[in-house]
Amino acid sequence: MRLPRPDVFKVNCLGEEIEFYAKYADIYELQFAHISDDVEFWVKLAKRFPKPVLELACGTGRITIPIARAGIRITGLDASREMLRVFKKKLEKEDSEVRRRVSLKLGDMRDFDFKERFGFIVDGQRKPAISMVGS
Ligand SMILES: C[S@@+](CC[C@H](N)C(=O)[O-])C[C@H]1O[C@@H](n2cnc3c(N)ncnc32)[C@H](O)[C@@H]1O
Repeated sequence: MRLPRPDVFKVNCLGEEIEFYAKYADIYELQFAHISDDVEFWVKLAKRFPKPVLELACGTGRITIPIARAGIRITGLDASREMLRVFKKKLEKEDSEVRRRVSLKLGDMRDFDFKERFGFIVDGQRKPAISMVGS
């Protein structure tokens, strides 16, 4: 079964498909990058579980980067090219060790398949949400 496009895509008044975050990714940074009350929660959990870590819908790396700074290898999956573009720009400012720990993938979290196995999955949407353990 083929899934519909993820909801980061919207149709404009001309019927063209546009990416919602195409305009919003930089603004997202200004609005939400400073929100950090859930970040420590995720970093603590990521330290406790087997590595590496997968983050679904990682956005611009608000949670991913602090986890990588804590010495943990992490893959960030997101359906928005624009959010990942902003993420990559931020990552350039990190030191080489942190950069080395982060892998970014463009994709739909409803349907993904990685060869790599993860010990912990983060699904943080500016609040602690669900987490799963798998291997
Ligand atoms: C509100 S932002 C949250 C970003 C990040 N988790 C955070 O807490 O800062 C939502 C993110 O979910 C991503 N997203 C929405 N639907 C998705 C899907 N089906 N697969 C992957 N990413 C998706 C969007 O592209 C966007 O980056």
